[in-house]
Amino acid sequence: MPPRPLVAGNWKMNGLRANAAEVEKLKRLMAGHGALPCDVLICPPATLVSTVAAAAQGSAILVGGQDCHPKVSGAHTGDVSAAMFADLGCSHIIVGHSERRADHGETSALVAAKAAAVHAAGLAAIICVGETEAERDAGQTLKVVGEQVAQSLPAGALPGNTTIAYEPVWAIGTGRTPTEAEVAEVHGFIRDALHKRFGAAGGEVRILYGGSVKPANAKALMAVNNVDGALVGGASLKADDFWGIIGAYLG
Ligand code: 13P
Repeated sequence: MPPRPLVAGNWKMNGLRANAAEVEKLKRLMAGHGALPCDVLICPPATLVSTVAAAAQGSAILVGGQDCHPKVSGAHTGDVSAAMFADLGCSHIIVGHSERRADHGETSALVAAKAAAVHAAGLAAIICVGETEAERDAGQTLKVVGEQVAQSLPAGALPGNTTIAYEPVWAIGTGRTPTEAEVAEVHGFIRDALHKRFGAAGGEVRILYGGSVKPANAKALMAVNNVDGALVGGASLKADDFWGIIGAYLG
């Protein structure tokens, strides 16, 4: 059985307390529908996790972090630990987003250490991978993604606490997406890697697609083999857009 899909919103460095109104709106849209066939997650900036968690209360909306420090606590000014996100009621933390790999020089080894910290806090890690446009043009996509998957999953990763998000860097925030065949190729390749690592249980790991997912293209992208949901940036900021993407799973 394929995993239950996950539609996850990554607000990135966007949002003030007033944006809780979008969460309230999403909650109303979800309440009007009843039980959903997918999980719904919002990862706001760390400053808004409590606010969003409060707004989401009484709904099925899950709340997560966008990054964490590999350590539980200590002298790391400005950083936030996985245990701190767990304390706020988070279920997931994104690690290894390409913006962090690029802006902060994060290596896959560091991403694995962060994912291990997420697991140690009892949460699920959403581990991001994806090639740049130059890497795709050079025919390196599967090599790059294969190395990122192999090196970014910590030794203790389990199918139940690990999600992979395939986000081609050139598709993020650009309005460009890979073709369905290109998505199928990479997701199938990641699935094979997960089977090699976890055996049959590799089929239980969600593989999300991310990069310019919108209401207009969500249904086609979510229908691709081995796509178990979406990691959504810009279109997760407005409840109507995000609900439109969730709509890919509503028949
Ligand atoms: P966009 O949906 O804005 O392209 O961002 C995708 C992303 O990076 C989600 O993590």
